[in-house]
Amino acid sequence: MSFDYFMYKGVRFSPGSYSEEILNFAENEFQVLDDDVYIVTYPKSGTNWMIEILSLLKKDGDPTWCNDVLIWLRAPWYETREGQSQIKDVLPPRVVTSHLPFHIFAKSFFKSKAKIIYVLRNPRDIIVSLYYFSKIICHYKNPASFDKFFEDFVHGNLLYGSWFDHVKGWMQMKDNSNFFYITYEELQEDCQGSVKKICNFLQKDYDAKLIESVVKHSSFHAMKNNKMSNYSLATEEFIDHSKGSFMRKGVSGDWKNHFTVAQSEHFDKVYQEKMKDLNVKFFWEE
Ligand code: A3P
Repeated sequence: MSFDYFMYKGVRFSPGSYSEEILNFAENEFQVLDDDVYIVTYPKSGTNWMIEILSLLKKDGDPTWCNDVLIWLRAPWYETREGQSQIKDVLPPRVVTSHLPFHIFAKSFFKSKAKIIYVLRNPRDIIVSLYYFSKIICHYKNPASFDKFFEDFVHGNLLYGSWFDHVKGWMQMKDNSNFFYITYEELQEDCQGSVKKICNFLQKDYDAKLIESVVKHSSFHAMKNNKMSNYSLATEEFIDHSKGSFMRKGVSGDWKNHFTVAQSEHFDKVYQEKMKDLNVKFFWEE
């Protein structure tokens, strides 16, 4: 299916799951509840991994809910056509997901006590992950080539706009007590420690048994084998299963298998230039 992205407040969206009306509702009318927790990410940063972790925490480490209920129904994307209807069935305390940039996020959030967990990932790995994802997900434009896709990412010409703007926008919240950020790479390096930090942020008591269960049931292997979490049950309208799977590799550094030396050098320059005013060092930069 061929389509063009449309612009909403300077950001690209696709006509299938979004419209001006849907986005306007998400921004101006959606009611955030004080006990909501929002998982906010640029696509391919580890969104679903965080949904699985929060789903397990919500059920005190018991994987039954994750095994019985589809991942996108446990934490709907409130800015999409489907998500806005799915969220009506979610009982508080809700976990809600969003890829929206800061400047068009639900206005009611800023008057609430709700919390945000912002997950980031090395943008080089996002490029690779999103390239393959765009081939299989119907509301993303099918990439013409990796080179063209790389350029589109650098210029922010993709669904949900520029990664750089997304990160810089959301990191304005970094000192707020209801905002917590963590990287995909930290989750990989020390999942136990990361889950403990998440519990502290959510003011949730934990013990070794809970942490162990969350880490075990949210692993790449566990999610890949869980049909409620691996997107194998998503309809053909959403995903073309013949072209690849959602749980692709789950590793860091795959960009090294895809970038040319010239692309790598070019990206380093763009990154330094665009991120120079953000006084934060992310895990992948250390
Ligand atoms: P790859 O395409 O690099 O494999 P999102 O949920 O934001 O769409 O991100 C999807 C990416 O996270 C994919 O990356 C996917 O394989 C990876 N992923 C999903 N669950 C994971 C897990 N439990 N552990 C590690 N990576 C995971």
